[in-house]
Amino acid sequence: MKFFIDTANLAQIKEAHELGVLDGVTTNPSLMAKEGITGEENVKAHYKAICEITDGDVSAEVIATTYDEMIKEGLELAKLHERIVVKVPMIKDGVRAIKYFSKQGIKTNCTLVFSAGQALLAAKAGATYVSPFIGRLDDISTDGLQLIEDIRLIYDNYGYETQILAASVRHAMHIINCAKIGSDVITGPLSAMLSLLKHPLTDNGLAQFLADHAKAAEAGK
Ligand code: E4P
Repeated sequence: MKFFIDTANLAQIKEAHELGVLDGVTTNPSLMAKEGITGEENVKAHYKAICEITDGDVSAEVIATTYDEMIKEGLELAKLHERIVVKVPMIKDGVRAIKYFSKQGIKTNCTLVFSAGQALLAAKAGATYVSPFIGRLDDISTDGLQLIEDIRLIYDNYGYETQILAASVRHAMHIINCAKIGSDVITGPLSAMLSLLKHPLTDNGLAQFLADHAKAAEAGK
């Protein structure tokens, strides 16, 4: 399963990359705004900077919501770097745009997916990735992980190659359950990735090993 980090923060992307487990980056307009990145040229430069840190795919989201504008913006984003994936919202013009980009051999990530029907449409349009937002479904008392299971079943039934990119991942259990279900990719904040490290028995065990080692070293003096 691939690990993407969901942020536009360069320091966090670097930290995840240095951990050695980062396979790519997703961003969205809110995450770019959070880093204070505004203006077309600054946004483009920031995407390039992200591409220089990671070896994996980098999702860059279009702001446009009409077909013609999405095509124009998406082509410009795709030109920035060979690993840019054009992120397109699940709306009618977005589905058409994904079809267009897929025919041009441009990678796409269909975002803001909240149902199996939307995921089916994205796959039929030829999306490279589909992003079901599991955390936001959980937020409205709907089972986000069930959606990942449903999409996995549908894609496997027909051999769709669209990769399931479980998005809006919030914590370790989301990641573990996505791995059990067979999600191709997860994306979430650095904190979710780092939470996989944690177990109190690891911390206690290490403290004990170090204490025993120090005691033995002291006794051997
Ligand atoms: C996906 O690509 C989105 O950027 C993201 O995962 C949204 O997550 P959030 O619900 O934590 O904002």
